[in-house]
Amino acid sequence: MNRVPGPPLTLVVLISNQGSNLQAIIDAMANQEIHVKILAVVSNNPNAPGLQRAKNAGIPTAVTDRADFATRKDFDRRLLQVVRDYDPGLVVMAGFMRILDDEFVEHFEGRLLNIHPSLLPKYPGLNTYRRVLSAKDSVHGCSIHFVNSQLDGGPVVAQSEVPIRADDDEISLSARVQAMEHKLYPMVIGWIARGGLVCQHETIRLDGKLLGKPRKIAFTDLDETQELGKL
Ligand code: GAR
Repeated sequence: MNRVPGPPLTLVVLISNQGSNLQAIIDAMANQEIHVKILAVVSNNPNAPGLQRAKNAGIPTAVTDRADFATRKDFDRRLLQVVRDYDPGLVVMAGFMRILDDEFVEHFEGRLLNIHPSLLPKYPGLNTYRRVLSAKDSVHGCSIHFVNSQLDGGPVVAQSEVPIRADDDEISLSARVQAMEHKLYPMVIGWIARGGLVCQHETIRLDGKLLGKPRKIAFTDLDETQELGKL
């Protein structure tokens, strides 16, 4: 890969649970596949196993638990303050299961990224695996998008598709989608880190060209090293 001169892109990663996507980002950073520095991992859930992944990697952690605040507004205000104090170049939602308020979204406009387990705009919200299986779709997948104030809204940067098999259940399908997530998320973060991917006023440019529709990434027939080598 081309080494990126200059300081790394600084990240704050927001999690709520397992943090397997966080781990994929930590691994890509440790392997020098992406030129980033994780300033902190912030969780709304004090028991999130992902917090231990951060600690194992020597990354500072912070918890902002809704239960500690009288109102949602107080929680939202504190979360914004915690993340803003790190002054990250990019906020990465990696399985963060709370809706950010408008003030947060506006503050980090163009610098707030989310991963969602569906081929957006299909299946925003929860339980995407159950819904896609009961709809008998033939394909599912994951999306990386910049965040706006709509639920799982905002311009989609990249997607990976996963064919649904006749014998799939939620567990088997989610395992294959998550395997794609763990490749796709570091890749897209790497595009931002090398200055190739920019989002302004909900318009995305990748390597200077308008990205009118999501970039489809098929990892099965992709030489990943070569693709990552563009970072
Ligand atoms: C991921 O699969 C992510 O797509 C999903 O939560 C999971 C978190 O896993 N996010 C959403 O559903 C957001 N709407 P992880 O904690 O192991 O990274």
